[in-house]
Amino acid sequence: MGIAVNSLGHCHPRLVEALTEQAGSLWHTSNLFRIPAGEELAEKLTGLCFADRAFFCNSGAEAMECGFKMMRRYHHARGDTRRKRIIAFSDSFHGRTLATIAAAGNPAHCEGFLAGDSGFDQTPFGDAGALAQAIDGATAGVVLEPVQGEGGIRPADPAWLGEVRAICDEHGILLLFDEVQCGVGRCGGFYAHQQLGVEPDLLASAKGLGGGFPVAACLAREEVASCMVAGSHGSTFGGNPLAMSVANAVVDEIAQPGFLDRVREQGEYFRGALEELARTNPGLIREISGLGLMIGVFPHADAGAFLSALREKGLLAVKGGNNSIRLLPPLNVGREEIDEALAIIQSALAELETAA
Ligand SMILES: Cc1ncc(COP(=O)(O)O)c(C=O)c1O
Repeated sequence: MGIAVNSLGHCHPRLVEALTEQAGSLWHTSNLFRIPAGEELAEKLTGLCFADRAFFCNSGAEAMECGFKMMRRYHHARGDTRRKRIIAFSDSFHGRTLATIAAAGNPAHCEGFLAGDSGFDQTPFGDAGALAQAIDGATAGVVLEPVQGEGGIRPADPAWLGEVRAICDEHGILLLFDEVQCGVGRCGGFYAHQQLGVEPDLLASAKGLGGGFPVAACLAREEVASCMVAGSHGSTFGGNPLAMSVANAVVDEIAQPGFLDRVREQGEYFRGALEELARTNPGLIREISGLGLMIGVFPHADAGAFLSALREKGLLAVKGGNNSIRLLPPLNVGREEIDEALAIIQSALAELETAA
């Protein structure tokens, strides 16, 4: 398991082939030069969503940084140099760089690292009124995860997302979606927001995009991307031939007809069975949440103890906020594997009940 990274499991033959073939020909060129695999990946990604342009980098936090820079630069390029502040939401997570910890504002992640006001504010996730109130003449844009990950798997309410879009449009500010964890098929659409019916102006993509190989992208509409000119941004390793070849293979696999239908089906099956488990064991499970194959289980008992019990029995999961655990299986997971996971979850719950 990786945290929503191994989108096609370990050593998928198509990814092994793409990586080894590329490794035998060319590893690195500076992104000062355009390479066919990069052009191809940009074409595919922009063809699959709202975006017109892609900037490639190496990690989720880097893609977010690129998005934040573009949000500010967009207004700067229009002569509005005041619009630099960015509004984020409670319980969010955007990475571990200085700007991304400042954006999420989680005290545990910020403590000892920030020097004064970093230009980010947080309002409650799901509250359109609070967002509208927080916006002023210094606001450049709004950033959110369409399905929160670290905070405890929490899909945004589509109606609220629509309100956020309308508020951004009304104020002429930008909307950045962090789909680092929830994107690239994880929630049953190529990008999660496509399931929720609202489009952003910019989007950060990483994790599952490389199926385990480090690669990320910041995607944007032309109107936004065009504020970046030669020299505005850069990356030594971003868009390298190895990463581009693997990501092309990942995207080909996930975008093939029927693949996402299967993710949605498997997700419904897995969540349905977990909800049944919660219904029959109300004293053990508080809630099941999620979209597609991004699933949250909220036990009554300590999530840490639950995780340890799962691990001992051979199931790797990861903790999330609000005493939850996250289940993020590969997108090509089989029904038998889901059943095996369900049996382990049931047995771990029974063990916790006995211990209580
Ligand atoms: C929603 C979200 N954004 C950003 C990041 C940061 O990505 P990375 O660790 O690749 O920098 C993560 C990582 O967990 C994430 O879940």
